[in-house]
Amino acid sequence: MQEIKFYSGENIPLELHKVRIVQKLNLVPIERRLEALNEGGYNTFRLSTKDVFLDMLTDSGTNAMSDNQLAAMMQADDAYAGSQSFVRLQKAVEDVLGKKLLLPVHQGRAAENIIATAYVKKGSLIPMNYHFTTAMAHITQNGGKIAELLYDEAYKINSDHPFKGNMNIEKLEEVIKHHGASTIPFIRMEASTNLIGGQPFSVQNLRDVRAMADKYGIRLVLDASLLGENAYMVLKREEEFKDSNMGEILKIMTGMADLVYFSARKLSSSRGGGMCTDSMVIYKELEALVPLYEGFLTYGGISIREIEAMAVGLYETLDESMICQSPSFIKYLVDALDAKGVPVIKPAGVLGAHVDAMQFCAHIPQTEYPAGALASALFLISGVRGMERGSISNQRDEYGNETYADMELLRLAVPRRVFTLSQIKYVEDRLNWLYINRLLIGGLRFVYEPPVLRFFMGGLEPTTDWPQKLMAKFKEDFGDSL
Ligand code: F0G
Repeated sequence: MQEIKFYSGENIPLELHKVRIVQKLNLVPIERRLEALNEGGYNTFRLSTKDVFLDMLTDSGTNAMSDNQLAAMMQADDAYAGSQSFVRLQKAVEDVLGKKLLLPVHQGRAAENIIATAYVKKGSLIPMNYHFTTAMAHITQNGGKIAELLYDEAYKINSDHPFKGNMNIEKLEEVIKHHGASTIPFIRMEASTNLIGGQPFSVQNLRDVRAMADKYGIRLVLDASLLGENAYMVLKREEEFKDSNMGEILKIMTGMADLVYFSARKLSSSRGGGMCTDSMVIYKELEALVPLYEGFLTYGGISIREIEAMAVGLYETLDESMICQSPSFIKYLVDALDAKGVPVIKPAGVLGAHVDAMQFCAHIPQTEYPAGALASALFLISGVRGMERGSISNQRDEYGNETYADMELLRLAVPRRVFTLSQIKYVEDRLNWLYINRLLIGGLRFVYEPPVLRFFMGGLEPTTDWPQKLMAKFKEDFGDSL
């Protein structure tokens, strides 16, 4: 796709779509936002959208859908078994992801549940570039452990490395030799490594992982939830692929994995998920678990309408002018924040902009959850809902001790084709103000901590009356502005 330049020289992303259906948003006064935080236990997952202005919690199930997706939903062939909608989805999976055998599941973590149930047992070790919360929870629930094998560069906030999601190949071999290939049911590669700031891996790195998997006879599982954007980054950043197209890159990547699974809530801007493979052996190992946990093999717990939307969404992933939208808006936001000195993960990745709470709130110790505090503070002063991706999102170890995250991030998701540039500029403006007033942000402590995936429903409270002080400063500076 050719670049679109502005005569003024201004470097801004251009929307390559038009808006035809809109949803009204609410921007409620700061007093109400403070009440909402108190009601929601300073956990942005527990906020109600009636209090949220810009919902940057996630891109999961919130990407804008296309007219063609909505049209396809009207033609759904609703049947418990043998639906033609599923046949269309199978074809789309084969055309776009290059795999012939498809097992549908209701969302990404359902695939993780089935894969972990089938392959992980006590004593298993799963090497991966980095964990994702639900992937790790299913592995540990089944008695397994994970080994995270990124290069050191991945943990550097301010970097220009194009592929921070690469797996450390030397460490991978060490881990395999040390633990023994027989204890490793599979290696997991996560496209656009979510928790380190949506950072991609290169095709070359995946080739190296594949070679190691072949050398030791271990399966390679690809989490393709954010594969579209990873392929786009390969197109933009990996010299060898600068003249390729999205379709070619996607198939090269999936072609190296024995098993590919995905959350369709991300990959195809719909709902649902899937597992696909060319191996009948793997298919058979997983097949029986689908009717047990998900539903019959031609719907897998997904509404048939969403299956139609998923099929169309998969084909749309091949369109560079669609897939570039979210990364280009993220890059705009990251560059704008960086220019003002706000600490953000660089280079800009996919999924969202990631603010480094460890630097932003350097005065808040990790024991008081700086990323959670920053997420609460930003919501208070703007109505923008981000997501804590730090120690609150970590799970306790097997002895019940806190494990502190490698990174304390506030993730501001930029779902595909949802926000306008002026809304992104509002986020930039309020974050700049918050950065200048950052010392007014204080810590949080748990008052309710669920045993599994605590970040979803956990409740916290501020350690001091800092939210009131921050609100007072906001009113001083913004007067009666919302
Ligand atoms: N793998 C990755 C890389 C993900 O980002 C997610 C979800 C999943 C698996 C699980 O898929 O939600 O459909 O069950 N990520 C969402 C997020 C929740 O907000 O980043 P799911």
